[in-house]
Amino acid sequence: MGRCDSCNAWNAIVEEVVDAPPVGRGGGRAAQGGGRALSFATLQGPSDSTARRKTGIAEFDRVTGGGLVEGSVLLIGGDPGIGKSTLLLQVAARLGASARVAYVSGEEAIDQVRLRAARLGVTEAPVDLAAATNVRDIVATLDAESGPQAVIVDSIQTMYLDILESAPGTVAQVRASAQELIRIAKRRGITVLIVGHVTKEGTIAGPRVLEHMVDTVLYFEGERGHQFRILRAVKNRFGPTDEIGVFEMTDGGLIEVPNPSALFLAERQGDVSGAAVFAGIEGSRPVLVEIQALVAPSPLATPRRTVVGWDSGRLAMVVAVLETRAGLSLSGRDIYLNVAGGIRIAEPAADLAVAAALVSSVSGVALPADTVVFGEIGLSGEVRGVTRSEGRIKEAGKLGFGKVIMPARRARERSKSPRHPASVEGTEVTRLAEVVDLLAAAPQGQRQPVSV
Ligand code: TYD
Ligand code: MG
Repeated sequence: MGRCDSCNAWNAIVEEVVDAPPVGRGGGRAAQGGGRALSFATLQGPSDSTARRKTGIAEFDRVTGGGLVEGSVLLIGGDPGIGKSTLLLQVAARLGASARVAYVSGEEAIDQVRLRAARLGVTEAPVDLAAATNVRDIVATLDAESGPQAVIVDSIQTMYLDILESAPGTVAQVRASAQELIRIAKRRGITVLIVGHVTKEGTIAGPRVLEHMVDTVLYFEGERGHQFRILRAVKNRFGPTDEIGVFEMTDGGLIEVPNPSALFLAERQGDVSGAAVFAGIEGSRPVLVEIQALVAPSPLATPRRTVVGWDSGRLAMVVAVLETRAGLSLSGRDIYLNVAGGIRIAEPAADLAVAAALVSSVSGVALPADTVVFGEIGLSGEVRGVTRSEGRIKEAGKLGFGKVIMPARRARERSKSPRHPASVEGTEVTRLAEVVDLLAAAPQGQRQPVSV
């Protein structure tokens, strides 16, 4: 148009392009070739540094990557009864000191939450408590000008959106409810912590369906019979993953465990066969755990292989390598493997410790009580190097271990790292068969120790 029909001025009209949503299938602008070229930016340039809010619970802050990021959405998954509500009420109480925090419970009545707060000794903390399940109400509350800066929604399985027909807890409801909460979190810069139960049937309608939507996924795990609880980051857009936080569940709530190795090894028996202490790395921290193996004659045609805390496929591999490359016969025997303390290990570096525990159980020769083991095993029976040996050795030394069975280090590594201050004596092995000899022959063999 040459002339504006509201003010009658000539040539006053300027073109403005509006992002129109695509109309139907195939009718969009892109399909017609009418898209607009993107304007690219460079990798270098200013970016908003993310503001973080620390809770003061060190184990929690480490797992989140240094505190909660404003406008981020965290999912805390775990089995029912593991302690998610307890953890988050404690987090809320701590956050309350520096921010406006709300705790919305869809599972428990206000009285029940108050009882828990009394048990945790946090009744004085300024936390806004509500029992609600309608997401529309929650979003309206969060949208208010002086609304909360952080909110805990416990749990997503109890929340529902009234525009959907399906029952709370179904995939559709869980997804749609989370979507609404994420939208308001981003818009208002609110930190939202969503609790999700891992359902019995596995992953259906559980936290899994939300993992791709949220910024951070934490899993709270532990064996029900044990008091240890492990908070593990499996996804984090604002920090490292595989970081763990260790807690102990007590009568007065969860207590941080700053030195997990000491806790995991607390009930260790020392000189028994079938046990090896593995020097592992969990996230940024070295952690020592005891690996226990029991090899027993089997009455079954297909012997039993039972694994707790480790990967059963990995055990099958270690057993096969022990049989074919190190001459240890395990056929016709049941094998039980257990990682003490209720922690789950995923590192291949545990191979050698598992093998040592198995060999020790077969031979009846105990590893010296002050020995730790780590190393990866290859299919041809070789012991392969692993990352962060120094950290593992240091942790062993700190906890009073004097010997370490480990992969041979390359000359370069050796010259790079100075002589270790702790008096830890290293036995470097290159083949699995050497470990078998070490444990099967005269205890503590005639091997030359190498100083580390
Ligand atoms: P809870 O936080 O309700 O689990 P979730 O929200 O994951 O379902 O924790 C429940 C268990 O924790 C329950 O069995 C009792 C135990 N517990 C304690 O041992 N000490 C405590 O101080 C609290 C509050 C709970
Ligand atoms: Mg709960």
